[in-house]
This record gives sequence, C-alpha cells and structure tokens, in this order.
Amino acid sequence: MTILLETKRLIIRSWIPERDAEQAFLIYNDPEVTHFLGKASRATNVESQRQRLIENIKQSHRRNNGTGSWAIVEKETTTIVGTILLLQLPDKDGLPTQDYEVGWHLRRASWGKGYATEAGRVMLNYGFSVLNLPVIYAVVKLENYASIRITQRLGMKPIGSTNKYYGIQLLLFQLDASEKNRGEQEEQGAGEQRSGVQRLVSEY
Ligand SMILES: CC(C)(COP(=O)(O)OP(=O)(O)OC[C@H]1O[C@@H](n2cnc3c(N)ncnc32)[C@H](O)[C@@H]1OP(=O)(O)O)[C@@H](O)C(=O)NCCC(=O)NCCS
Repeated sequence: MTILLETKRLIIRSWIPERDAEQAFLIYNDPEVTHFLGKASRATNVESQRQRLIENIKQSHRRNNGTGSWAIVEKETTTIVGTILLLQLPDKDGLPTQDYEVGWHLRRASWGKGYATEAGRVMLNYGFSVLNLPVIYAVVKLENYASIRITQRLGMKPIGSTNKYYGIQLLLFQLDASEKNRGEQEEQGAGEQRSGVQRLVSEY
C-alpha cells in the first residue's frame, strides 16, 4: 500500500483493487453520489468496480506524471470514505488537456464532516509543491452546491462557465500556486462571514 498524503483525520493512499472494490462500490453504486458525476461513474457490481480500479491504476502508471485518483481513508475507523483526484482535464473528445483538476467524491455516510475540504487542501498542496503545477482547476455542475461550497472553502476563484472540458457546460474554479495558502487563511478567519453558495452561483 502506498500512502501519498496524510492529514489530521485522513490518509490519502493508492487503491488496492482486490481489497477495496467492495468499499468503492458503496460509493459509486449510490445514485446520490453519482448524480452530478454522470451515468458512466455509476458502478453496477463489485467486479466491474474492481476492474475500474485496476484500469485507473494502469492509466496512472502509463501517464507517470504524478496524477491519479486515490482512496481517502478515515484514520479513526480505517474506512474508505471517498476518492480524491488530481487529473488532466479532458477536452470534449476525452483527450487530456494541459489543465489539471482536483476532484472529490465521498460516500454519503461521510458527508458533512469537512473531509472533502481536508482532502482537497492537501491534494492542492501536493499539486503545487510536488508536481509544480502553476494552476489547478475544479469543474462543477451548476447545481452542485455542496461541491461549489468546497471550492470556496479551499479559496478557489470562480472563473465562470465553460464547455471546454468533458463536452458539457461546467462552472470553473481556479487556484494559482501563488495563492495556495489563501483557502487556509480564509477558512481560519472567515467564520460567520462566509458568503453563501447561492450568491456565488447567481454571479454566473
Ligand atoms: C461534494 C461532496 C464531496 C461534499 O461533501 P461534504 O464534504 O460532506 O460537504 P458538506 O455536506 O459538508 O457540504 C459542504 C458545504 O456545502 C453546503 N451544502 C451541502 N449541500 C448543499 C445544498 N444542497 N445546497 C446548498 N449548500 C449545500 C453545506 O452546508 C456545506 O457548507 P458549509 O461549509 O457552509 O457548512 C459530496 O456531496 C459528494 O461526494 N457528492 C457526490 C460527488 C460529487 O458530486 N462530487 C463533486 C463533483 S464536482
């Protein structure tokens, strides 16, 4: 098992298909989780989930550029609570662009604990400090308010709406390497002053 990163409550590690498929299936067989991710992300059985994990690892090895998708493990229970990813954004034909995205998918039982923000923050740091990326994006479907809120908590800047990636209309958020500590500072000092997600969305 390769541990990539660690936070106060979480371990970010590579997937182990033979061991993790059942837990990954609990995440990706849930229509509430896949609602904003598209039909293709929905797993229909544990075996196809396992194959998907195997394929993801193969693709990671082929790219060999430090990007990938990893399991988020809750330290306290050693349960897999989700996925965190750092990948090249695909264009409308599915081909990788030179733009990188951070993304988060949590099993429903682990929503509302701030895990996506905690994992997202350490993944952004990894992208900037280890991969030396100058900028990292997040793309979010218009009504995915929980995810938009996470981009805010991470200090990512809303850029507007784009159809450059995945062949669909998405909201684009951006964090520059020079601003990587901004989210942390805002998180510590923002308290009650956080602006509402609805207000952010209505800016588009
Ligand atoms: C997106 C996701 C990771 C967020 O999970 P989470 O960390 O548990 O997020 P929370 O439930 O703590 O919500 C984050 C924030 O959004 C707010 N929020 C949640 N659902 C909301 C909704 N329907 N409308 C408005 N705000 C909402 C929460 O109040 C919270 O705001 P706060 O920080 O001000 O309290 C989780 O919902 C998920 O895995 N969804 C499925 C996969 C997905 O869509 N991933 C994103 C793809 S871009």
